[in-house]
Amino acid sequence: MDKKVTVVGAGNVGATAAQRLAEKELCDVVLVDIIDGLPQGKALDLAEAAPIEKHDAHPTGSNDYAASANSDIVIITAGIPRKPGMSRDDLLSTNAGIMKNVTQQVVKHSPDAVLIIVSNPLDAMCHVAYEASGFPKNRVIGMAGVLDSARFRTFIAMELNVSVENTTAFVLGGHGDTMVPLPRYSTVAGIPITELLSQERIDALVERTANGGAEIVKLLKTGSAFYAPASAAVEMAESILKDKKKILPCAVYLEGEYGFNDLFIGVPVKLGTNGVEEVIQITLTAQEKAALEKSADAVRELKELLKKLS
Ligand code: APR
Repeated sequence: MDKKVTVVGAGNVGATAAQRLAEKELCDVVLVDIIDGLPQGKALDLAEAAPIEKHDAHPTGSNDYAASANSDIVIITAGIPRKPGMSRDDLLSTNAGIMKNVTQQVVKHSPDAVLIIVSNPLDAMCHVAYEASGFPKNRVIGMAGVLDSARFRTFIAMELNVSVENTTAFVLGGHGDTMVPLPRYSTVAGIPITELLSQERIDALVERTANGGAEIVKLLKTGSAFYAPASAAVEMAESILKDKKKILPCAVYLEGEYGFNDLFIGVPVKLGTNGVEEVIQITLTAQEKAALEKSADAVRELKELLKKLS
């Protein structure tokens, strides 16, 4: 196919993302992982499903980054996932080392790629990838807001017994407990949920959204969510590959927008061929601004911790 996407990390999120990319027939798909045989085995399995699923995404797998050469997009999911009782921040030092190493290898072979970062803690990992890649800010994008918004949409649809397709939602800020779901900008068939639900019910849905990742970790016990994270990364990739210019909440490097500087944090952006093509600045109430500030503080704290570790 004329586009190529590499997924680094052939674990739960990575392999599921590869499957979605292939089944949507968006691009050729390469899986890369550090474990010998894992990306090769999963890619071969995906390739053997292709005649039934009807795609020509030619899935391949390798431990060698040469296979990833000239990718249009590289989705990085390499790292360790959370176990019960762990926060995303507990993954910081292990995943920072992995992210730095992976990014350096990726950029050697795909100097023009757009990087979609998935590994946690997300906002901090974006900083690591941004620095290690030397890429311009429009080509390093973190997957968080699309997932958090999808979770919020799911809970809104469950609450009101309506189709998920009727829902839209915006969750901004860092990908952690301080994330900022915005009910005023979240709708059902265009109607803000503030018109449809009591404040008490909205607060409950917001709370469940902020803890959405932990809810899955608690159930799974041996790892973290992967179906929805993979779907979210693939929605971002699709908008870039097809130059759809979708507005999606993503973690991006801010230089003055929303009053933040030198910080990756989730805000609405337009995604097209060039990666981040515009940061959309929406008006926030004083309360929403304060919540975003608090979330930014949490990201800054991790960034400082990263500096101390390196
Ligand atoms: N290079 C390449 N791959 C690596 C490296 C490395 N240096 N280190 C680890 N990996 C691979 C592992 O071998 C494993 O196959 O990353 C994969 C991670 O897969 P899982 O353990 O199944 O984790 P997953 O659930 O996919 O989550 C990956 O995404 O959502 C985040 O918090 C999550 O940080 C975690 C990441």
